[in-house]
Amino acid sequence: MKKPTPYTISARMYDVISFEWPIYRAGRTAAIDLMALPAGSHVLDIGCGTGLNFALLQRRIGPAGSITGVDASPQMLEQARRRATSAGWENVNLVAADATALGSVDLGHHVPFDAAISTYALSLMARWEVALDAMISATRTGGAVAVVDMQKPVGRAELWTPLARLACRLGGSDIDAHPWTAMPARLDAMKTASVRGGHIQVRVGSVPSATAGGGHFF
Ligand SMILES: C[S@@+](CC[C@H](N)C(=O)[O-])C[C@H]1O[C@@H](n2cnc3c(N)ncnc32)[C@H](O)[C@@H]1O
Repeated sequence: MKKPTPYTISARMYDVISFEWPIYRAGRTAAIDLMALPAGSHVLDIGCGTGLNFALLQRRIGPAGSITGVDASPQMLEQARRRATSAGWENVNLVAADATALGSVDLGHHVPFDAAISTYALSLMARWEVALDAMISATRTGGAVAVVDMQKPVGRAELWTPLARLACRLGGSDIDAHPWTAMPARLDAMKTASVRGGHIQVRVGSVPSATAGGGHFF
């Protein structure tokens, strides 16, 4: 039997207990602004959870675009499905899968995607490099790949470090993983933002032609 995670046990409470509005919304907003997605874009959301990125993405892509959300937790996906249904979004596809083993997973007919995003999810994965490579491989040449994740706050915000560590520990993420550091070697035209005292790091890069795989993950 698989070990329960915070995302199998507390999916229904996630939006309430995740410090979304005071802290973490700022990261997803910054990333989606930097991605500058045109209307009609098809977007892959890795570790989409309950779909907190969806409304912000929908404002950019409109009904002609689509969101394909991938998450390992069926319970989180159920919340994402409820969100999409109650908002009337018919352009959301949800896939239950491990983002570090997407090789044989059918991500639907929008592969290669116009863009990919992962917010607060890669630092939960022991093999996050594999998930990052899968995001890049599933995105077309020139498409935007965005990662939002956490580190210890810096400068005057450093005094919030124990709270940041606690939030990461409760969520099961490794605050020292720093998955965005692998992006400059893999992507072009990197854009950077840092919010909430440096606790939230945002990176958006563009897929170079040699690495776009049109859905061939490895
Ligand atoms: C902290 S939540 C973030 C959810 C969402 N991206 C957000 O910004 O609110 C992390 C999510 O990553 C998912 N996750 C963790 N490991 C995963 C994996 N190997 N493959 C796919 N999803 C995974 C969890 O189930 C959870 O929904």
